[in-house]
Amino acid sequence: MQLFWGDPVQLMFERQFTVAQEPALVVESDKKIIGFISYSEFNENAVLIVALGILPGYQGCGIGQMLVKQIEEYAREQGKQQLLVVTSNDNLPALAFYQHLGFQLYEVAPDVIAKKLGDLHPGIANIPIRDELRLRKVFTKQHI
Ligand SMILES: CC(C)(COP(=O)(O)OP(=O)(O)OC[C@H]1O[C@@H](n2cnc3c(N)ncnc32)[C@H](O)[C@@H]1OP(=O)(O)O)[C@@H](O)C(=O)NCCC(=O)NCCS
Repeated sequence: MQLFWGDPVQLMFERQFTVAQEPALVVESDKKIIGFISYSEFNENAVLIVALGILPGYQGCGIGQMLVKQIEEYAREQGKQQLLVVTSNDNLPALAFYQHLGFQLYEVAPDVIAKKLGDLHPGIANIPIRDELRLRKVFTKQHI
């Protein structure tokens, strides 16, 4: 999983998550792992996506969407009301991806990532990595 996700411990919602200790789904092609998603029971109402990564050569093929949908289905089966995820302020592709899947930005935790990194580091498009953007997908009740 290190291949996909640099930091084995993720700080989000002021809590630490060790990616390797959380349940995960993986996608394989030719006996090689090309994508994964890990998730956590966040609280009685929500499941949290802890990490999601698709190998660069396999991005844009629908794998990320398929993995998120599987976790959404799992969360619904567990009777949860929402799926949560965070991304960093520079990760505009992920922000687009999650909104495309029906997530809504609802909270920003300013500077928490910069504090964790100890300094401002350039991220995607040289945007300084600073803030934790919190998104959620709230499930609407199905009407028959
Ligand atoms: C972000 C990421 C998980 C998306 O996974 P993916 O497999 O490449 O995305 P998909 O092919 O499933 O895309 C699903 C939909 O989102 C859209 N989408 C994906 N990335 C997008 C982007 N950067 N901008 C706009 N739309 C985007 C796709 O067009 C697709 O739309 P469609 O259903 O109309 O075809 C993947 O690119 C990745 O691993 N990125 C690096 C790690 C990362 O940033 N992880 C998330 C951090 S929280």
